[in-house]
Amino acid sequence: MNAACQSGWTPALLQVKLDYLTLFTACVLLALLLYCLAPPLYRRLGRGEPASEQPAAPQNSQPHRVISFLDSSILTATLVGALFFSLFILIPKTTAFRLPGDQIGYEPPQPIAFSHQLHAGEMQISCLYCHFGAEKSRHAGVPPENVCMNCHKFVTAPLGAVRAEDEQAKKEGRPPRRVISPELAKLYDALALNAQMQPDPARQPHPLAWTKVHNLPDFVYFDHRAHVHAGVTCQTCHGPVETMERVRQQQPLTMGWCVNCHRDVNQKGVGGKRVNASTDCATCHY
Ligand code: HEC
Ligand code: HEC
Ligand code: HEC
Ligand code: HEC
Ligand code: HEC
Repeated sequence: MNAACQSGWTPALLQVKLDYLTLFTACVLLALLLYCLAPPLYRRLGRGEPASEQPAAPQNSQPHRVISFLDSSILTATLVGALFFSLFILIPKTTAFRLPGDQIGYEPPQPIAFSHQLHAGEMQISCLYCHFGAEKSRHAGVPPENVCMNCHKFVTAPLGAVRAEDEQAKKEGRPPRRVISPELAKLYDALALNAQMQPDPARQPHPLAWTKVHNLPDFVYFDHRAHVHAGVTCQTCHGPVETMERVRQQQPLTMGWCVNCHRDVNQKGVGGKRVNASTDCATCHY
C-alpha cells in the first residue's frame, strides 16, 4: 500500500506544473487585453487621450504623437511573442498530460490509420484474433505485424483501388500493376519489405509505434485474463470499439470506477454467474 500512497503524489505534481503554465498564459492574455482596451476606456471616462505614460492601442496611435514605450511596437511584439510562446508550450501539454479522471475521450493519432470499424465492425474479425493476450495474460497487447500480414500479404490496397487499376490496365492493354495503399505502405515499411514484398536486406524491420490509449498508473495491478474469464465483455470497459475509426477512451479508469464495479458484480453477478471481485487494497495495489 505504501507504493500506492507515494506514487499518488505524481499526478498532483504534474497538475502543479500545468497550473504554472496556465497562469503564465492567463497573465499574457490579460496583459494583451489591457493593452488593447486601455485607450478606449480612458476616452470614455472623459480623461482624453492618454499622455505619454499611458498605453494606447496600435490602431489609435497618431503619427504626430510622442511615441512612448507603451506605444512602441516592441511591446506589441513582446506580448504577441509571449502569447505564441505560451500557446506553443501549452497545446502539446494539454494532450500529453493525462490527469486521472480526465482522460475520457482521449483519442491519440496512431502511426497507421488502422480502423476498428472496418476490421472488427464490417469484417467482424474477433477481438481475440488480434488481442489474443487478453485471454491468457494481464495484457491484451497490440497485435504484432505478422498478424496483419496474414491478410495484408495479399490485400495491399482497398478492393475499390485494385478494381480501378484492373480496369485502367485493361483499357491500356497492359498487365495490372500492384496497388499499394499509402497506409499499408507504412506497414510494409515497418517490416522492411521492398516493392516485390520481399525482405529488403538493406533495411532493418522496426515495430510500429502505436500510441497507448488506455493507461493506468504503474502502482495499479490490472489483469485482463481475470475479467475476460469472468465474462466481462471488452465493450463494458472499452465502449463500442467496433464502431470506432480510431480508438477512444470511454470509461474513466479511476479507482472509483473499478471498485464500484467490483461491488456491483459481487451483488448482481456477471451474465447470471456469481463472481467474487475483491475490493481489498492489495488486489489492485502491490
Ligand atoms: C474490466 C475492464 C476491462 C475489460 C473487460 C477489458 N479491458 Fe482492455 N483494458 C482495460 C484497462 C484498465 C486497460 C489499461 C491497462 C493498463 O494500462 O495497464 C486496458 C488496456 C487494453 C489494451 C491496451 C494494451 C494492454 O494490454 O494494456 C488493449 C489492446 C485492450 N485493453 C483490449 C481489450 C480487449 C480486446 C478486451 C476484450 C477481450 C478487453 N480489453 C477487456 C480494461 C478492460
Ligand atoms: C483478416 C484479415 C485482415 C487482418 C488480420 C488485418 N486486415 Fe487490414 N484490411 C483487411 C482488408 C480485407 C482490408 C481492405 C478492405 C477494403 O477493401 O476496403 C483492410 C484494410 C486495411 C487498411 C486500409 C487500407 C486503405 O488504404 O484503405 C489498413 C490501414 C489496414 N487494413 C491495416 C491493418 C493492420 C495494421 C492490421 C494488423 C493490426 C490489419 N490491417 C489486419 C483485412 C485484414
Ligand atoms: C485486425 C486486428 C484487430 C482486431 C480484430 C481488433 N483490434 Fe483492437 N487494436 C488493434 C491494433 C493494431 C491496435 C493499436 C492501434 C489502435 O489503437 O488503433 C488496437 C487497439 C485497441 C485498443 C486500444 C488499446 C490501447 O489502450 O492503446 C482497444 C481497447 C482495442 N483495440 C479493443 C479491441 C476490441 C474490443 C476489439 C473487438 C471488438 C478489437 N480491438 C479488435 C488491432 C485489432
Ligand atoms: C465491469 C466491471 C469491472 C470493472 C469496471 C473492473 N473490474 Fe476487476 N473484476 C471484475 C470481475 C467480474 C472480476 C472477477 C471476479 C472473479 O473472478 O470472481 C474482477 C477481478 C479483478 C481482479 C482479480 C484478479 C485475480 O487474479 O483474482 C483484479 C486485480 C481486478 N479485477 C482489478 C481491476 C482494476 C484495477 C479495475 C479498474 C481499472 C477493474 N478491475 C475494473 C469486474 C470489474
Ligand atoms: C479494484 C481495484 C482497486 C482497489 C480494490 C483499490 N484501488 Fe486504489 N486505485 C485503483 C486505481 C485504478 C487507481 C488509479 C486511479 C487514478 O489514477 O485515478 C488507484 C489509485 C489509488 C491511490 C492514488 C490516488 C491518486 O490520487 O493518485 C491511492 C492512494 C489508492 N488507490 C489507495 C487505495 C486503498 C487504500 C485501497 C483499499 C481501501 C485501494 N486503493 C483499493 C484501483 C483500486
